[in-house]
Amino acid sequence: MSGQPRVTVVGVGDDGWQGLTGEARAVLREAPLIAGGDRHLALMPDLPGRKVPLPSPLLSQLDDLVTANPGMCVLASGDPMLHGIGATLARRLGAGQMRVLPAVSCAALACARLGWAEQEVDVVSMVSRPAEVILPAVQPGARVLVLCRDGGTPAVLGELLADRGWSATQLTVLEHLGGSAERVRGPYPASCLHPGPFADLCLVALACAPDTPGAVLPRVPGLPDSAYETDGQLTRRAARALALAALAPGPGQLLWDIGAGSGSVGIEWMRVDPRCRAVAVEARPGRAARIRRNAGRLGVPGIDVVCAAAPGALRGLPRPDAVFIGGGVTTDGVLEACWQALPPGGRLVAHAVTVESEALLHQWQRAVAGELVKLDLSYAGPLGRFTTWRPALPVTQWQAIRS
Ligand SMILES: C[S@@+](CC[C@H](N)C(=O)[O-])C[C@H]1O[C@@H](n2cnc3c(N)ncnc32)[C@H](O)[C@@H]1O
Repeated sequence: MSGQPRVTVVGVGDDGWQGLTGEARAVLREAPLIAGGDRHLALMPDLPGRKVPLPSPLLSQLDDLVTANPGMCVLASGDPMLHGIGATLARRLGAGQMRVLPAVSCAALACARLGWAEQEVDVVSMVSRPAEVILPAVQPGARVLVLCRDGGTPAVLGELLADRGWSATQLTVLEHLGGSAERVRGPYPASCLHPGPFADLCLVALACAPDTPGAVLPRVPGLPDSAYETDGQLTRRAARALALAALAPGPGQLLWDIGAGSGSVGIEWMRVDPRCRAVAVEARPGRAARIRRNAGRLGVPGIDVVCAAAPGALRGLPRPDAVFIGGGVTTDGVLEACWQALPPGGRLVAHAVTVESEALLHQWQRAVAGELVKLDLSYAGPLGRFTTWRPALPVTQWQAIRS
């Protein structure tokens, strides 16, 4: 870092001033202004600098606050870079403009109390997101730490898990870790969680166990079709799994799911990794609403649903790393706009079920690159006392990588 940082973010544990390092105390004594949440400010002794609550709404006013107060400090809980304001400031100011003095994170404290290896747990925040965001991490044998909005969160979690067939999951509630009011209660099965009350400063540790194999929805693409609410506009399981394999989701990457129908491709792209992002483009409002419902139920409520027709709907969207065209291949300009939007290395997968759309994919494959694959699947089913094959509609898949 060159010169003085514009802002220093100081992590504070539940033991407040007493738990801070000498360096953190010195920085706070010298700061002209100290901003923080009410709980953190209350943990500070009298200091020369002015204490102010963090502005609300935070994001729109944070930059102005930092610009107007060079050398200021921001207080955060535990490690400011773990679901904290340190990460937000780093994104906005750049890492070179700030200094971070972390305290021990609540995740580290929870793992220490439970004897869990930190690298083997997922940390999911429900602080400002719906409970369903935990679902992709809920896998057999998984250990998950859930950061809570308040003392009501453990009950919400217990109900959700029981409702989705994970009532055997063990929940441990850890309150005020590292402080004098620290308390660890549990484990309780999700079906009969201790009624509380729990302190607002708490987190929940989950040791996940499904009640039946049918409750398991893996992160690997190719969820059963029955996982989706649909009006029939659904890319079927096998075609979806092959499409996602070619789309190759990577952490932080963005997918455009065009003609998204029930939303399955964008949803499974996002379930692969919590950093994956997707825009579902769907012209019909009823289907757009269904995509939101499916995404919420399957644990990726952050999907961006654009209710408009491509290619017009694509103008102004952030550049994708991959594009899936499940519907609308023959609409003028859609293939062209998608291909042009991709950066080098970007992947495109398009599906066709009509002779006309297949012909178009063939033209593109010859003109550009990639592979054409015909998915001609049959499913076994009863025929009287016997079993027979029933063919599904063949799907032509074009997979291409932009060079
Ligand atoms: C925005 S997150 C910040 C986490 C923080 N950066 C850290 O490293 O601990 C806040 C949530 O973390 C959890 N949390 C933070 N400190 C805690 C503590 N001392 N005891 C229990 N949970 C804590 C709570 O679920 C709280 O709502």
